[in-house]
Amino acid sequence: MKENDTYKVLIESFDVNGYGVCHIDSKVVFVMYALENEECIIKITNIHKKYVFSEAIKILKPSPNRILTLEEMSKLSGECDLAHVDYETELKIKYLKVKQTLRLDNYKLNNIIKADNIYNYRNKVMVPFQSIKTEDGHDVISGFYEKKSHEIIDSDNDNMSTKLSNDIRYLIKRYLVLFNVPIYDELTHTGVFREVMIRNTINNDYMVVLIVTRDYDFSRLVEILKEEFVEIKSIYININSDKTNVILSNDFKKIYGEDSIVENILGLDFEVKPKTFMQVNHNQCEKLYTEAIRLADLNKNMNVIDAYCGMGSITLNIAKHVNHVTGIEIVDDAIVNANNNKKRNNILNADFICGPCENEITKLVNKEKIDVIFFDPPRKGCDKKFLDTVISMNIPKIVYISCNIATAKRDIDILINSGYELKEVTPVDLFPRTSHVETIALLTRKN
Ligand SMILES: C[S@@+](CC[C@H](N)C(=O)[O-])C[C@H]1O[C@@H](n2cnc3c(N)ncnc32)[C@H](O)[C@@H]1O
Repeated sequence: MKENDTYKVLIESFDVNGYGVCHIDSKVVFVMYALENEECIIKITNIHKKYVFSEAIKILKPSPNRILTLEEMSKLSGECDLAHVDYETELKIKYLKVKQTLRLDNYKLNNIIKADNIYNYRNKVMVPFQSIKTEDGHDVISGFYEKKSHEIIDSDNDNMSTKLSNDIRYLIKRYLVLFNVPIYDELTHTGVFREVMIRNTINNDYMVVLIVTRDYDFSRLVEILKEEFVEIKSIYININSDKTNVILSNDFKKIYGEDSIVENILGLDFEVKPKTFMQVNHNQCEKLYTEAIRLADLNKNMNVIDAYCGMGSITLNIAKHVNHVTGIEIVDDAIVNANNNKKRNNILNADFICGPCENEITKLVNKEKIDVIFFDPPRKGCDKKFLDTVISMNIPKIVYISCNIATAKRDIDILINSGYELKEVTPVDLFPRTSHVETIALLTRKN
């Protein structure tokens, strides 16, 4: 077997990321975009010692659970890697991903909390632009990167973004062509316009960030955007002249409207600036926080820590139910947001600490007794020093929110080996049509 070889296979099952699985010469073969019981032609893409990666190039006998053909899939952003299956199958794959990754017994695994809207849910999109040569000159394309590639798929109607976000992007694209704005070319590192970031809130307020290599006069574009879309409340430019994959620099200049837009989560208001971290799916975020708070079984006598708290969106929602909550977050701007959000919502029983959780938590060890700690770390999971300090504090309950079940499993095993029991887990579908799944785990201290 070698790369690019083709085989006719029958898919036997699916793996935790939604890949079809079959065997060739006793090797396990993972097949991108193939479903259980499908007969298909596959092309080998990557050979490892014990397993092989491949992609389906022709489906000979499609599964009844398939809703998009391979050709339709090829026009979507690489992020939508479960867009070819019906929603029930997607939920089954995600539930099994959590169950099979945790590989633990004697805990309650709840049904996955499903989404009401599986399309057009993203409240933040970053979209690259590219200039292409045509017969009569040049044109501009914008869209998303193909899976594992740097090729842009030209797409004016992305089905993860809101309709208005697509319309704003389309207008910007036409403007760039009409006014000959030089588009950035990453190979030659020339040109001006790199990407656009569009954010929105549940109240339909929009923020637009034009990402450019140098200061540029966009006053005409601002006038057009203001006139066409009353929903746009704030426009920034972000100047990023570096040859880098990091899209946003720290150099922001507001060119229209408000400094921030305001999101409402479970009845509280939160200011959102261009760099503020916010969950990308508002409705599922509310369900996630509600379930995390339910699992913690909070009461008005409790003192709580919310580690990795971002702009304080869980912290301030926890505050409604407890005596006191302390949020810890490493990003200064997020803590500025969090303190503003505390004031804006008239909350008195929450405080925020800025710094790495692994250091800041040590300062809380001999202070008030903590009844519950929430953690919501980034994909890499918790720092070992942070977990060791939490363990030493004998906190009765831990609510671990994770967007990466693999690192959550590593951390949960450490907690279990240090005197905690896994009680209950709830997966939440925060990212429909993708293979990502959010999980909430409740652990309690034995005795
Ligand atoms: C997944 S986000 C969660 C934010 C928040 N809980 C929410 O729901 O919006 C993870 C947060 O952890 C912060 N972070 C990353 N490493 C950290 C560290 N070592 N100490 C404290 N915060 C950290 C990030 O800046 C980010 O705001």
